[in-house]
Amino acid sequence: MIPVLTIDGPTASGKGTVASRVAEALGFALLDSGALYRLTALSALEAKLALDDANAIAALARALPVQFAADQILLAGRPVQDAIRQEAIGNAASKIAALPAVRAALVELQHSFRKTPGLVADGRDMGTVIFPDATLKVFLTASVQARAERRYKQLIDKGFPANMLALLQDLKERDARDTERAAAPLKPAEGAHLLDTSDMTIEQSVAQVLDWWHHRSGTQ
Ligand code: DC
Repeated sequence: MIPVLTIDGPTASGKGTVASRVAEALGFALLDSGALYRLTALSALEAKLALDDANAIAALARALPVQFAADQILLAGRPVQDAIRQEAIGNAASKIAALPAVRAALVELQHSFRKTPGLVADGRDMGTVIFPDATLKVFLTASVQARAERRYKQLIDKGFPANMLALLQDLKERDARDTERAAAPLKPAEGAHLLDTSDMTIEQSVAQVLDWWHHRSGTQ
């Protein structure tokens, strides 16, 4: 069985960065499942679909014309790496992610990322729903304040406008939507290792996850 390490947690918890560094250290593939929801949201907005039109959005999700290149994501051949990081797209992604038909439409695509020698999967339901047989499950959190500060810095660094108070409000709303939805809500998988990174650097978080991995998988 191809080994999988899942990293789930709320928005802006640092999951994405930790997951990509851990994948690099292990030489594993990386699944950024949030990007798939963001790509679906971008496609839906561009197609002018209502964000509660489950069937139409699920049909879009099933046939996403997406290609993952080294450090770019192409949607119908167009680079969208930066476009999908905008807050408006993140919010729309959180809305369509509550629709069970959309989640079901993305399952196969997510499973297709499982390739030798292994996969690091980042998201909300990687350990609970998509890869329940994962070798190691990590649930990464950080205080809402720490996460808002990180997201603020990310946006400013990318040249996007950002407002701290609006970000805090947005994060809280998105947390509530991701945690309270009926379909695959955000919660730690059974047996998940919890990591609160509020006062940790990226390097410390990566080292902790790798340490757990080596213990669990018996490699050093
Ligand atoms: O991790 P992110 O911020 O890129 O994710 C964007 C949205 O997609 C998030 O608000 C919830 C949703 N999502 C999800 O429901 N399940 C996943 N596995 C990943 C993301």
